[in-house]
Amino acid sequence: MVQGIQGRRELGDLVLPSDQTASGRTLGDTEIEAVSEAIRSGTLTSTKGSFVKAFERAYAERLGMEYASACSSGTAAMHTAMAALDPEPGQEVITTSITDMGALSPILYQGAIPVFADVDPRTYTVTAETIAERITDRTAAIVSTPLFGNPVGTAEIAALAAERSIPFVEDCSQAFGAADHGRLVGTFGDIGFLSLQQGKHITTGEGGVLVTDDDALATRIRTFINKAWDYESPTPDHTYLALNYRMSELVGAVALAQLAKLDDSVRIRIENARILDELLEDVPGVEGPKVVRENIHSYWRYPLHVDGDEVPGGPDALASALGDLGVAAAPRYIKKPAFACGVFQDQRTFGSSRWPFTLADPSAVDYSRDRYSGTWQALASVLVLPWNERYTADDVHAIGERIHMAVDGLRAGR
Ligand SMILES: Cc1ncc(COP(=O)(O)O)c(C=O)c1O
Repeated sequence: MVQGIQGRRELGDLVLPSDQTASGRTLGDTEIEAVSEAIRSGTLTSTKGSFVKAFERAYAERLGMEYASACSSGTAAMHTAMAALDPEPGQEVITTSITDMGALSPILYQGAIPVFADVDPRTYTVTAETIAERITDRTAAIVSTPLFGNPVGTAEIAALAAERSIPFVEDCSQAFGAADHGRLVGTFGDIGFLSLQQGKHITTGEGGVLVTDDDALATRIRTFINKAWDYESPTPDHTYLALNYRMSELVGAVALAQLAKLDDSVRIRIENARILDELLEDVPGVEGPKVVRENIHSYWRYPLHVDGDEVPGGPDALASALGDLGVAAAPRYIKKPAFACGVFQDQRTFGSSRWPFTLADPSAVDYSRDRYSGTWQALASVLVLPWNERYTADDVHAIGERIHMAVDGLRAGR
């Protein structure tokens, strides 16, 4: 509890829209009508229905890609991407230490080893340089993740992957509508994918979608989602080990309706972010996201960079002070680097086997602190503000005022 912050009464009680409820989501009549139509059709499976197929076509067209395949979650999409690339057991997939576990566990399920590249402490993402440090002759794929919607150095990572003939996967789950030097993220890689989970730019509650331009990868993606049964083949068979990760028609109906709202969701988030950028200009020790001028950050969240030398107590104290003022904020985002979680520390996988970690080269599972200085710095300084398209300019002004007040209070020792 921060005592004595002036102005609380004048600002009144702040209630911000939440993307976990109707207040912060743009779900309405078009979704209800689409779902009703799916139900009236009597066909709820995408193998026979039309909604999921229409969503896939619309999404591929939007990105200017040849193929899009919908699936049941972002985690399923990542698993499908890994299965499509089909690494040998024990091969390595270079990815980020700051991400959702749904982007990591599929690597292990597919028998490969996640190898963590360090991140830039200010953009929170892997770079071509930090990835290059981890490439070995066992590297089977590189994954980039524009965290919070901020794309950084995607062309450089794509060039590095191409130069070393390593497949490149873009996890754009948090980055609908983000672009790197004029090109949408998701279109640089051999495979791009996104999540449609409850809190994303558009949502179906749970869901995912993958894109590719590669014919062979597209077939592999489509079939992995369908238990390796190729509905487009005249002689289908379960040709390899695969799962049912299909999106249902009910979800596809919502996805299609939501897609029409994506541009507005991204635009409003960006407009509001510009307002907060300005409001933060004279706040000592607090900065908004570092965005490359030519790029579009699509603001899944608005991360604050908090300098603990300027703001006593750093992100934790600021989160607590903001919480008292009605502004929720998450210090350290995922709390700790992914490799510090039990699954990596204790290598708890299948029974007591520790497989596939048993196949790993020691350097691939070396999580020593000095190899991850950027990661630890990033998490120690980041404070993540929830963000959604239902925020108004007034909401953002209220957030900005409260950040000023909270920082002033902490600096004054109140
Ligand atoms: C970067 C990233 N990758 C993957 C996922 C997994 O997606 P899902 O929760 O839809 O399984 C998420 C989910 O939040 C994510 O933020």
